[in-house]
Amino acid sequence: MMQIPDIKTSIGLLKRKETPIHIMRHCVRVALVSRYLGSKLRERGCDLCLELIMAGALLHDVSKYESIRNGGDHAEMGARFLKELGYPEVARIVKNHVYLDYDPGAGGGISEEIIVNYADKRVKHTDVVSLEDRFRDLQARYGLDAMRRQRIQALYQQSKEMERAIFSRLEIHPDDLTKIFRR
Ligand SMILES: [Fe+2]
Repeated sequence: MMQIPDIKTSIGLLKRKETPIHIMRHCVRVALVSRYLGSKLRERGCDLCLELIMAGALLHDVSKYESIRNGGDHAEMGARFLKELGYPEVARIVKNHVYLDYDPGAGGGISEEIIVNYADKRVKHTDVVSLEDRFRDLQARYGLDAMRRQRIQALYQQSKEMERAIFSRLEIHPDDLTKIFRR
């Protein structure tokens, strides 16, 4: 039986890791976008667990603050933390939220990981933006040398492929997400 922390438990875990409020808000935003995409895809027949998507999205940056303070890969650290608590499925989503082993050729199925990874790429702080906007910001902040710029560019290409895979199943356009979540 899969163990998935509910919303209250997930928020409690973020607090336990002393997550600052701006990261907390980002996680909630990613969770709302993820749940929206997950439920739309479910309507289209994709076999997805919304509870798993919610927990994975809420907790994707659970170790972000720890990594800012002490260094380390926050995706790996978050995954380890959740695995030790007995949530291996949620851990897998957290581990894959930055870099995802994604091969669009391999069946082309949509997983919970793909949704959370993609939603995180669409949320800049708490704003829902286009992939182009988000990656322009990432390049400006982290593209410090040619190697890093190339890695970010590769991630952008992968995100575009995920976007095509997700929205080919839906009747809405990627830009509609920005409008739906505009505050
Ligand atoms: Fe992250």
